[in-house]
Parts: sequence; structure tokens; C-alpha cells
Amino acid sequence: MDIAGIRLTALSSCAGCAAKLGAAELRAVLAQIPAPPYDENVLVGYESGDDAGLYALNDRVALIQTVDFFTPIVDDPFDFGRIAATNALSDVYAMGGRPITALNIVAFPEDLDLAILARILEGGAAVARDAGVAILGGHTIKDSEPKYGMAVTGLVERGSYTSNAAAQPGNVLVLTKPLGTGVLTTARKRDAISDDDLAEAIAWMTMRNEKASRVLRDCAASAVTDVTGFGLLGHAGSVAEASGVSLEIDAAAVPCMKGTLDLIRAGIVPSGTRHNAESHAAFTTFAAGVDQAVRIALSDAQTSGGLLAAIPDSSLESFVSNLRSDAGIAAVIGRVRTGSGISIL
Ligand code: CO
Ligand code: CO
Repeated sequence: MDIAGIRLTALSSCAGCAAKLGAAELRAVLAQIPAPPYDENVLVGYESGDDAGLYALNDRVALIQTVDFFTPIVDDPFDFGRIAATNALSDVYAMGGRPITALNIVAFPEDLDLAILARILEGGAAVARDAGVAILGGHTIKDSEPKYGMAVTGLVERGSYTSNAAAQPGNVLVLTKPLGTGVLTTARKRDAISDDDLAEAIAWMTMRNEKASRVLRDCAASAVTDVTGFGLLGHAGSVAEASGVSLEIDAAAVPCMKGTLDLIRAGIVPSGTRHNAESHAAFTTFAAGVDQAVRIALSDAQTSGGLLAAIPDSSLESFVSNLRSDAGIAAVIGRVRTGSGISIL
């Protein structure tokens, strides 16, 4: 649905890639900032490139903080609101925590119908309500491009958060949503597919990672992260680097949404995905037989993607049986090995 014939994605300079800075560019900028003074309560800061920051409130509980916002990647304002909110909550779930409060972040063009903004915020509010998160307020600015997202605060037991830094050699690698949201939303923006063809991607992007996160905690996952703008290989690369391990991924076992590989073969590759693929080449070795389109899909910039986790072999059976269809898919995509970097079989 669109309001007054407006296609929201037409107002967005970069659908599909959510227009974020590349990982290398971001690292270069952060390297110029003096290190913050030591604070023993900071359990996870920005240096480690984890999903969210963690701050100890007392001996038992830590605060989780994260923020995410972007330009429209779908035309329906309500869906855009739901996707942006689901995506913003995701980093809290990736840390094994429970989101409790959120603040809306809004940029909106002066000449655009305010009914569109109301629908975006309704979408965000619906997700927050379902997740048991209280929206305490927010901030708006005028901008030529609409943007929406949330700053989210959560809580986690200090002893049970899941960072990306503790994957153990021998662990199994699992993924809870298929890939393809970057390619599919870009294809929709370029009118290469219909609204109906985008329905699967919207369903995945609005599925919260809450239940999957709980299942992974019960499986004693050693490392968990969510797959977002840097693509599966980018986020897997962060886990490998932070944990000091190598990851082996079976390309054929990685699920993709319907149409993704054909669209890549037809030349539909978001700029963010192409950028990702170039930088992932530095730490990824592909076996000779790995299909070119699959290689691109592994780097596709995801929005509100699934959880990528390393779990002990002994939990694999309970992971597969407990991750029911309303919490995601239980894809077993590879293994953690000693060494460094990523190899694709
Ligand atoms: Co994340
Ligand atoms: Co994030």
C-alpha cells in the first residue's frame, strides 16, 4: 500500500543497502577517536565491534544499548515502521538480552504527507507492543529523505550475555533466517519484481529474533550475532576475528529466499552488497566450485536478518527441534575451526 501514490523507496537514495558506511571506512574513523577513559562498568564497548554496548548496573545485571535507523526499503509505511523497529530490537536479542524501552528516531521531508509518518510510527509501535517494549519518546528532524529507527535499551544477566567473541573450535554454525533481503528489496525498487514477490522478505524482516535468541541461550551458544548490513560473511568475519577462530561455511547449506539467486544472475546486486563482497574477499577463501551468484548472496546486505550462532555439537538436536517455524529456520551451515578467516566449501 502507498499513501497518495507515494512510493517511499523512491525517496530513498539507497534501498536494499540501508546506506550504511562500510566496515573498513567505519574502522578508519573510529581509529581517530581517542580511547575513552577506562570504566570498569563497560563490559562491551564499541572497540570490539559487537552487536550492542553492555554496561554493568550492579553485580548481577547489565544494561544493553543499541541504535539503528535507515531510509525506506519498502513502500508501505506501516511495513517500513515494523521492519525498522524489528531490526533495531535485534541487537539486544543477539546479545541474549531483553529489550525494555525504546526511543523513536525520525527524519521526515517537510513536503510529505504526515499521514505517512503516522503509519511508520504505528508500525514501530506495533512491534514494540508485541515485544513488551515501552516507547518513552523520540526525536524528529526535517530531512529530504525519510528515515526511521529506534534507540533501544535492554537488560541481561551479566553472566549470560552472548557476545561474538567466544566461538569455540568444533562448535556447529547455525543460522535462523534465509538470506536475500538486500537483493529482493532492490529488485522491488527497480520494478524487477512485484509486491507479492517481496512478501516473503517482509515476513522475515518483521520476525523478531526473540524466540531464536532464547532457544540459542538454552543451547549454551558460545557466540551469537545478527546478520545485518555487512552480510553473512561480514558478520561471520567479525565472529571469527573476535573469537580468534576460523569459520568453515558450506555454501550449499546456506538458505536463500525465493528468487534471490536468479535476481543476482540477472544483475540485481545492491551497491552495499557489492561493496561487502569486495571487502569480504580479504578474509574469505572460496572453493573452486562455489557458484558466483551464491558468493554474492553470502555478502548480501541484510536488514533485520537472522541470528548466526556457534553452538556445541551436543545442543544441535535440541536447537533444531526447539526452533519452531515461528522463530525462524534451523539451518546448519558450517563449523568453527582453529585458525583465522572464513573458508567456503
Ligand atoms: Co548486530
Ligand atoms: Co546494529
